[in-house]
Amino acid sequence: MPLKTPAFAAAVVALLSLAAARTHETKVQAGPRDIAPPSFYRDVLPILQQHCQSCHRSGGIGPMPLVTYENARAYAQEIANFAGKRKMPPWFADPRYGHFSNDPSLTAAEIQKLAAWADASAPAGDPKDAPPPRKWIEGWNIPQPDAILKMAKPVALPAQGDVEYTYEIVPTGFAEDKWVQMSEVRPSSRENVHHAVVYIRPPDSKWLRRAPVGVPFTVSDMTDEDSRHGAHWTDSDILLVYAPGSSPDQWPPGMAKFVPAGSDLVFQMHYTTHRHAASDQTSIGIVFARQRPAQRVLTLQLTNDHFVIPPGADDYRVEARGTLPNDATLLSFFPHMHLRGKQFDYNIVGADGSVETLLRVNYDFYWQLSYRLEEPRLLKAGTMLQAVALYDNSRGNSHNPDPDASVRWGDQTYDEMMVGFFDVAVRADLDKWHYFIRPDAAAEKPASQSH
Ligand code: HEC
Repeated sequence: MPLKTPAFAAAVVALLSLAAARTHETKVQAGPRDIAPPSFYRDVLPILQQHCQSCHRSGGIGPMPLVTYENARAYAQEIANFAGKRKMPPWFADPRYGHFSNDPSLTAAEIQKLAAWADASAPAGDPKDAPPPRKWIEGWNIPQPDAILKMAKPVALPAQGDVEYTYEIVPTGFAEDKWVQMSEVRPSSRENVHHAVVYIRPPDSKWLRRAPVGVPFTVSDMTDEDSRHGAHWTDSDILLVYAPGSSPDQWPPGMAKFVPAGSDLVFQMHYTTHRHAASDQTSIGIVFARQRPAQRVLTLQLTNDHFVIPPGADDYRVEARGTLPNDATLLSFFPHMHLRGKQFDYNIVGADGSVETLLRVNYDFYWQLSYRLEEPRLLKAGTMLQAVALYDNSRGNSHNPDPDASVRWGDQTYDEMMVGFFDVAVRADLDKWHYFIRPDAAAEKPASQSH
């Protein structure tokens, strides 16, 4: 989709922040070799608290807790390995491009400490050196929500196998327009929720109108081709995306997301199974802005749905580009592909053809994250943004469901998608339609794109 076409320029925000533990590269050098090795209580536990326990604690999405000495000692070597290879904590941005406020990565010094601790057979040290245990809130991580909207019916999940994307439509009952300052998605069965996207469906939207309200359904449940096709393909605004490790975040003062009166929320759930039957009934908590914000946050997207990835291709390139019709402050990115996704770049293309890379993601379908700019960036009207996706349809891609297939756009994970969501802040009185009206439309060259 070209950026200039409003139809898929979903407004409002899809932002999720990882534990907002942006690490600071301190200039700490490894000490002289003759000093004592790192100890669990003094050196390792603070790292685990800050970078790991958001997922590795009881009830978290990590496969094991990393809270006590006994927990960590049993995994000392794996901790050092996963940290050393930067497999943990999960983060997929190429460090050569951009700085992101939700980057949870360990510093080189922290990685070195974990390695030295494992090499020294994981000494405990003195419990008196331990930092106070980190308190994890079991309830909401945002202040008491003004509104809590929950799926009316739980979704029954099997013990094994893939679960098709599951939808549930939840009416807001909002009698007036609302501005959302904070929101948080809370699954009832966290281990089963791979990710969730909550869309705002305004009362005049035709999206999924033939679908039932208040009960879970999948695309396969739909009998008409229009609904099947349209299920994943909407111009509805996104309120929030939830993925493993995401934590709620507050919009900066003066920025908020907009929910028109009478909207429904559409929960799109991707579930995984875990060897026992389960059920999930996800809720979303919302805190409203206390006053009308100066800026409205919109989620826009760069999309190309006209591609055919040949069988076996291991580096197939698909791009989309478009020019911003009006000024906007760029806040964050959220790339979306399926199982053959390999790399996703966001670039600014200059008038002279120069390319500035804002973000490069080494893509992993199982970890779909948002990348939030440390410094929001004002982009002038006419700025050309480009998204470049690379796909690996070879046997070398261990996620590839069928290296012999020619792969096109489609809903299912064995089809592909190419969507570069990005969030911008614009004037509060601009809805997405007005944002896309070009003041000098006649004078401007049309946005080119790769269809
Ligand atoms: C955002 C959530 C999250 C964070 C933060 C996180 N992990 Fe994980 N970790 C996971 C999940 C989920 C898995 C299992 C799936 C996988 O490996 O991708 C995992 C797997 C692991 C494994 C492999 C366990 C095994 O089965 O052998 C190790 C070791 C590990 N994490 C260590 C760490 C360490 C150390 C940190 C902090 C420096 C950390 N993780 C931070 C979610 C997280």
